[in-house]
Amino acid sequence: MRKKIAAGNWKMNLDLTQAQTLISELTQMINDEYSGSAEVVLAPPFPFLYPAHHLLKNHSRFHLAAQNIYTKESGAYTGECSAQMIQSVGASHCIIGHSERRQYFGESHDQLLAKIRLCLRFGIYPIYCVGETLSARESGKTFEVIQQQTEQVLFLLTEDEVRKIIVAYEPVWAIGTGKTATPQQAQEVHAFIRRIISEKYGASVADETSILYGGSVTASSAPELFSQPDIDGGLVGGASLKSREFAEIVKALP
Ligand code: PGA
Repeated sequence: MRKKIAAGNWKMNLDLTQAQTLISELTQMINDEYSGSAEVVLAPPFPFLYPAHHLLKNHSRFHLAAQNIYTKESGAYTGECSAQMIQSVGASHCIIGHSERRQYFGESHDQLLAKIRLCLRFGIYPIYCVGETLSARESGKTFEVIQQQTEQVLFLLTEDEVRKIIVAYEPVWAIGTGKTATPQQAQEVHAFIRRIISEKYGASVADETSILYGGSVTASSAPELFSQPDIDGGLVGGASLKSREFAEIVKALP
Protein backbone atom coordinates (compact mmCIF):
# COMPACT_ATOMS: atom_id res chain seq x y z
CA MET A 1 0.00 0.00 0.00
CA ARG A 2 1.20 3.49 -0.81
CA LYS A 3 2.41 5.14 2.39
CA LYS A 4 1.99 8.73 3.51
CA ILE A 5 5.33 10.04 4.74
CA ALA A 6 6.58 13.24 6.33
CA ALA A 7 10.37 13.28 6.19
CA GLY A 8 12.57 15.89 7.85
CA ASN A 9 15.96 16.52 6.26
CA TRP A 10 18.00 18.35 8.88
CA LYS A 11 20.97 18.83 6.53
CA MET A 12 24.11 20.06 8.35
CA ASN A 13 22.38 21.74 11.26
CA LEU A 14 22.13 21.52 15.08
CA ASP A 15 24.37 20.11 17.79
CA LEU A 16 23.64 17.00 19.82
CA THR A 17 21.71 18.76 22.57
CA GLN A 18 19.57 20.63 20.07
CA ALA A 19 18.96 17.43 18.13
CA GLN A 20 17.82 15.60 21.28
CA THR A 21 15.53 18.47 22.25
CA LEU A 22 13.98 18.58 18.79
CA ILE A 23 13.30 14.83 18.86
CA SER A 24 11.78 14.93 22.34
CA GLU A 25 9.50 17.80 21.40
CA LEU A 26 8.48 16.18 18.14
CA THR A 27 7.70 12.77 19.57
CA GLN A 28 5.61 14.38 22.27
CA MET A 29 3.66 16.69 19.95
CA ILE A 30 3.04 14.08 17.31
CA ASN A 31 2.09 11.32 19.74
CA ASP A 32 -0.30 13.68 21.56
CA GLU A 33 -1.82 15.44 18.57
CA TYR A 34 -1.73 13.16 15.54
CA SER A 35 -3.66 9.97 15.01
CA GLY A 36 -3.33 9.61 11.23
CA SER A 37 -1.46 6.90 9.39
CA ALA A 38 1.62 8.76 8.14
CA GLU A 39 5.14 7.63 8.87
CA VAL A 40 7.53 10.25 10.17
CA VAL A 41 11.11 9.90 8.95
CA LEU A 42 13.85 12.01 10.51
CA ALA A 43 17.17 12.47 8.69
CA PRO A 44 19.70 13.95 11.13
CA PRO A 45 23.43 14.22 10.35
CA PHE A 46 25.48 11.02 10.86
CA PRO A 47 26.71 11.75 14.43
CA PHE A 48 23.13 12.02 15.70
CA LEU A 49 21.77 8.81 14.18
CA TYR A 50 22.57 6.55 17.10
CA PRO A 51 21.38 8.89 19.86
CA ALA A 52 18.27 9.59 17.75
CA HIS A 53 17.68 5.85 17.40
CA HIS A 54 17.59 5.54 21.19
CA LEU A 55 15.11 8.36 21.55
CA LEU A 56 12.87 7.00 18.77
CA LYS A 57 12.94 3.27 19.34
CA ASN A 58 9.73 3.13 21.36
CA HIS A 59 7.86 5.34 18.91
CA SER A 60 6.74 3.09 16.09
CA ARG A 61 5.54 5.89 13.84
CA PHE A 62 9.06 7.33 13.68
CA HIS A 63 11.84 6.10 11.41
CA LEU A 64 15.39 7.21 10.99
CA ALA A 65 17.16 8.15 7.76
CA ALA A 66 20.74 8.98 6.90
CA GLN A 67 21.27 11.83 4.46
CA ASN A 68 23.82 9.96 2.36
CA ILE A 69 26.07 6.92 2.21
CA TYR A 70 29.17 6.10 0.22
CA THR A 71 29.19 4.09 -3.00
CA LYS A 72 31.35 1.28 -1.60
CA GLU A 73 30.56 -1.37 0.94
CA SER A 74 33.64 -0.84 3.14
CA GLY A 75 37.35 -0.11 2.98
CA ALA A 76 39.91 2.66 2.81
CA TYR A 77 37.61 5.61 2.11
CA THR A 78 38.53 8.11 4.80
CA GLY A 79 35.63 10.22 5.94
CA GLU A 80 32.85 8.16 4.40
CA CYS A 81 29.98 6.15 5.92
CA SER A 82 28.63 2.89 4.56
CA ALA A 83 25.14 1.45 4.20
CA GLN A 84 25.97 -1.20 6.81
CA MET A 85 27.13 1.45 9.28
CA ILE A 86 23.96 3.48 9.08
CA GLN A 87 21.87 0.33 9.30
CA SER A 88 23.78 -0.78 12.39
CA VAL A 89 22.99 2.49 14.20
CA GLY A 90 19.28 2.28 13.50
CA ALA A 91 18.66 3.95 10.13
CA SER A 92 15.92 2.31 8.07
CA HIS A 93 15.95 4.91 5.28
CA CYS A 94 18.53 6.96 3.39
CA ILE A 95 18.20 10.05 1.22
CA ILE A 96 19.94 9.45 -2.10
CA GLY A 97 20.68 12.01 -4.80
CA HIS A 98 19.59 15.14 -2.99
CA SER A 99 20.20 18.09 -5.29
CA GLU A 100 22.81 19.46 -2.87
CA ARG A 101 24.76 16.20 -3.27
CA ARG A 102 24.40 16.36 -7.04
CA GLN A 103 25.37 20.05 -7.15
CA TYR A 104 28.14 20.42 -4.53
CA PHE A 105 29.60 16.93 -4.64
CA GLY A 106 29.08 16.18 -8.31
CA GLU A 107 27.29 12.89 -7.67
CA SER A 108 26.61 11.06 -10.90
CA HIS A 109 23.77 8.76 -11.82
CA ASP A 110 26.16 5.78 -11.67
CA GLN A 111 27.11 6.69 -8.11
CA LEU A 112 23.50 7.16 -7.10
CA LEU A 113 22.61 3.78 -8.53
CA ALA A 114 25.47 2.18 -6.57
CA LYS A 115 24.26 3.84 -3.37
CA ILE A 116 20.69 2.67 -3.93
CA ARG A 117 21.87 -0.89 -4.52
CA LEU A 118 23.89 -0.81 -1.28
CA CYS A 119 20.89 0.52 0.64
CA LEU A 120 18.75 -2.29 -0.70
CA ARG A 121 21.37 -4.89 0.14
CA PHE A 122 21.26 -3.74 3.78
CA GLY A 123 17.48 -3.44 3.98
CA ILE A 124 17.42 0.35 3.88
CA TYR A 125 14.68 2.19 2.00
CA PRO A 126 16.20 4.75 -0.37
CA ILE A 127 14.48 8.12 -0.72
CA TYR A 128 15.57 8.98 -4.25
CA CYS A 129 15.46 12.69 -5.09
CA VAL A 130 14.79 14.17 -8.50
CA GLY A 131 14.16 17.76 -9.55
CA GLU A 132 14.85 20.34 -12.21
CA THR A 133 16.84 23.56 -11.90
CA LEU A 134 15.28 26.94 -12.53
CA SER A 135 16.92 27.20 -15.95
CA ALA A 136 15.61 23.76 -16.92
CA ARG A 137 12.10 24.78 -15.90
CA GLU A 138 12.32 28.10 -17.70
CA SER A 139 13.49 26.44 -20.88
CA GLY A 140 10.62 23.94 -20.76
CA LYS A 141 12.83 20.97 -19.89
CA THR A 142 11.27 19.95 -16.57
CA PHE A 143 9.84 16.63 -17.75
CA GLU A 144 12.93 15.80 -19.77
CA VAL A 145 15.17 16.25 -16.71
CA ILE A 146 12.88 14.24 -14.44
CA GLN A 147 12.66 11.49 -17.05
CA GLN A 148 16.47 11.30 -17.33
CA GLN A 149 16.96 11.26 -13.56
CA THR A 150 14.41 8.47 -13.33
CA GLU A 151 15.53 6.42 -16.33
CA GLN A 152 19.24 6.57 -15.60
CA VAL A 153 18.88 5.42 -12.01
CA LEU A 154 15.52 3.93 -11.01
CA PHE A 155 14.82 2.20 -14.28
CA LEU A 156 18.02 0.18 -13.99
CA LEU A 157 16.51 -1.57 -10.96
CA THR A 158 14.29 -4.63 -10.93
CA GLU A 159 10.60 -4.40 -10.16
CA ASP A 160 11.15 -5.83 -6.68
CA GLU A 161 13.82 -3.22 -6.00
CA VAL A 162 11.69 -0.35 -7.26
CA ARG A 163 8.91 -1.42 -4.90
CA LYS A 164 11.22 -0.44 -2.03
CA ILE A 165 12.02 3.04 -3.31
CA ILE A 166 10.46 6.27 -2.12
CA VAL A 167 10.75 9.08 -4.67
CA ALA A 168 11.07 12.74 -3.70
CA TYR A 169 10.35 15.44 -6.27
CA GLU A 170 12.33 18.49 -5.21
CA PRO A 171 12.51 21.30 -7.75
CA VAL A 172 15.97 22.81 -7.16
CA TRP A 173 14.59 26.35 -7.48
CA ALA A 174 12.25 25.70 -4.54
CA ILE A 175 14.81 24.28 -2.10
CA GLY A 176 15.64 26.66 0.72
CA THR A 177 14.41 29.62 -1.33
CA GLY A 178 11.00 30.13 0.24
CA LYS A 179 9.50 29.56 -3.24
CA THR A 180 7.25 26.52 -3.09
CA ALA A 181 6.02 24.93 -6.30
CA THR A 182 2.29 25.51 -6.58
CA PRO A 183 0.23 22.42 -5.75
CA GLN A 184 -0.64 22.23 -9.47
CA GLN A 185 3.02 22.43 -10.59
CA ALA A 186 3.97 19.74 -8.10
CA GLN A 187 0.99 17.49 -8.88
CA GLU A 188 1.77 17.65 -12.60
CA VAL A 189 5.33 16.38 -12.06
CA HIS A 190 4.24 13.77 -9.50
CA ALA A 191 1.64 12.43 -11.94
CA PHE A 192 4.33 12.32 -14.63
CA ILE A 193 6.69 10.33 -12.40
CA ARG A 194 3.92 7.90 -11.51
CA ARG A 195 3.00 7.52 -15.17
CA ILE A 196 6.53 6.67 -16.30
CA ILE A 197 6.92 4.20 -13.43
CA SER A 198 3.63 2.64 -14.50
CA GLU A 199 4.75 2.40 -18.13
CA LYS A 200 7.96 0.70 -17.09
CA TYR A 201 6.88 -1.53 -14.19
CA GLY A 202 3.09 -1.63 -14.36
CA ALA A 203 0.26 0.13 -12.59
CA SER A 204 0.52 -1.76 -9.31
CA VAL A 205 4.15 -0.71 -8.74
CA ALA A 206 3.36 2.89 -9.68
CA ASP A 207 0.31 2.89 -7.46
CA GLU A 208 2.28 1.72 -4.45
CA THR A 209 5.19 4.14 -4.86
CA SER A 210 5.20 6.99 -2.37
CA ILE A 211 6.20 10.22 -4.09
CA LEU A 212 7.07 13.07 -1.72
CA TYR A 213 7.26 16.75 -2.56
CA GLY A 214 10.16 18.83 -1.25
CA GLY A 215 11.09 22.47 -1.58
CA SER A 216 10.19 25.12 1.01
CA VAL A 217 7.28 23.11 2.45
CA THR A 218 5.79 24.90 5.47
CA ALA A 219 2.87 24.29 7.80
CA SER A 220 0.83 26.67 5.71
CA SER A 221 1.67 25.23 2.28
CA ALA A 222 1.50 21.56 3.33
CA PRO A 223 -2.29 21.00 3.47
CA GLU A 224 -2.93 21.97 -0.15
CA LEU A 225 0.18 20.23 -1.46
CA PHE A 226 -0.68 17.04 0.43
CA SER A 227 -4.25 17.06 -0.85
CA GLN A 228 -3.05 16.49 -4.43
CA PRO A 229 -3.78 12.95 -5.61
CA ASP A 230 -0.17 12.07 -6.46
CA ILE A 231 1.57 13.80 -3.55
CA ASP A 232 2.09 11.33 -0.71
CA GLY A 233 3.86 13.59 1.73
CA GLY A 234 6.89 15.82 1.99
CA LEU A 235 10.64 15.94 2.30
CA VAL A 236 11.07 19.00 4.46
CA GLY A 237 14.29 20.89 5.10
CA GLY A 238 14.22 24.19 6.99
CA ALA A 239 10.77 23.72 8.50
CA SER A 240 11.76 20.32 9.94
CA LEU A 241 14.17 22.04 12.36
CA LYS A 242 11.26 23.66 14.23
CA SER A 243 9.21 21.20 16.26
CA ARG A 244 5.90 23.06 16.12
CA GLU A 245 6.20 23.76 12.39
CA PHE A 246 7.13 20.18 11.51
CA ALA A 247 4.43 18.72 13.77
CA GLU A 248 1.86 20.80 11.88
CA ILE A 249 3.25 19.51 8.58
CA VAL A 250 2.85 15.92 9.81
CA LYS A 251 -0.70 16.74 10.90
CA ALA A 252 -1.51 17.88 7.35
CA LEU A 253 -1.30 14.22 6.30
CA PRO A 254 -4.37 11.98 6.74
P1 PGA B 1 13.68 23.12 2.25
O1 PGA B 1 14.58 21.86 1.87
O2 PGA B 1 12.39 22.58 2.82
O3 PGA B 1 14.48 23.89 3.24
O4 PGA B 1 13.44 23.87 0.97
C1 PGA B 1 14.00 20.69 1.32
C2 PGA B 1 15.08 19.69 1.00
O5 PGA B 1 16.14 20.12 0.52
O6 PGA B 1 14.93 18.47 1.23
